[in-house]
Amino acid sequence: MRVLILGATGAVGGQLLAESLARATITSVIAPTRRPLPPHPKLINPVLDFSEADAEADFWHVDVALCALGTTRKQAGSDAAFIKVDKDIPIAVAQCVLAKNAHTFGLVSSVGARLGRNLYLNTKAELELALQALGFAHTVIVRPSLIDAHRADRRPGESLGLWLAKALGKLLPARYRPVPPAVIAKALLNASLAKPVVQGSTTTTLESEQLKKIAES
Ligand SMILES: NC(=O)c1ccc[n+]([C@@H]2O[C@H](COP(=O)([O-])OP(=O)(O)OC[C@H]3O[C@@H](n4cnc5c(N)ncnc54)[C@H](OP(=O)(O)O)[C@@H]3O)[C@@H](O)[C@H]2O)c1
Repeated sequence: MRVLILGATGAVGGQLLAESLARATITSVIAPTRRPLPPHPKLINPVLDFSEADAEADFWHVDVALCALGTTRKQAGSDAAFIKVDKDIPIAVAQCVLAKNAHTFGLVSSVGARLGRNLYLNTKAELELALQALGFAHTVIVRPSLIDAHRADRRPGESLGLWLAKALGKLLPARYRPVPPAVIAKALLNASLAKPVVQGSTTTTLESEQLKKIAES
């Protein structure tokens, strides 16, 4: 099986990469990034600018694609630049892999993804809907709460949220408790590699409180 990972240098993407390289059923891991990854015998690592990627390139020929790409509004610098990374690039890549017969697209979305005025949640919801409309045999959407990761960049809002969530502990509803990147990655991988029960085009949506169980399955 050939698996493509978007965002393999990130917190969740890095875990997706490690887990995919370790699984015997996955024969090749294709991880396009803008910074080179350490080499591995199973890894194909096209280093590219997604705006200029060749839609016809052979490396889009995969069975399963997994997306953990993302930025913040602050890092991106504008709403349009944020939307480009968090929605437009994933859709463009999904079209490339679907054209080469990928059957499954797995997405790291977010808790609370919904259409509305919030740029982040609205962008995630628009991406979820756009992916489902493309018609993969199986679309997997995981919606994690705050990701419990150490960051090289400063994200004060996220750090405060994590601190608060940890202080509240089990008083916080399960859906909003922080999740380790490895749990998100394993859950996305397990759900995306599983054969869907329904024939045709189907979507599996996993909320944050479901991820640990699926990760351990
Ligand atoms: N942070 C949270 O608490 C939280 C909660 C729920 C959902 N999410 C979502 O979960 C997903 C994964 O999050 P994460 O924390 O693992 O992300 P992350 O650590 O910030 O990693 C993001 C990845 O996207 C890549 N990327 C960003 N901008 C890019 C660009 N312009 N061109 C190419 N690649 C680009 C990064 O590459 P470089 O290494 O080259 O920058 C990196 O590989 C994201 O979609 C995020 O919105 C996050």
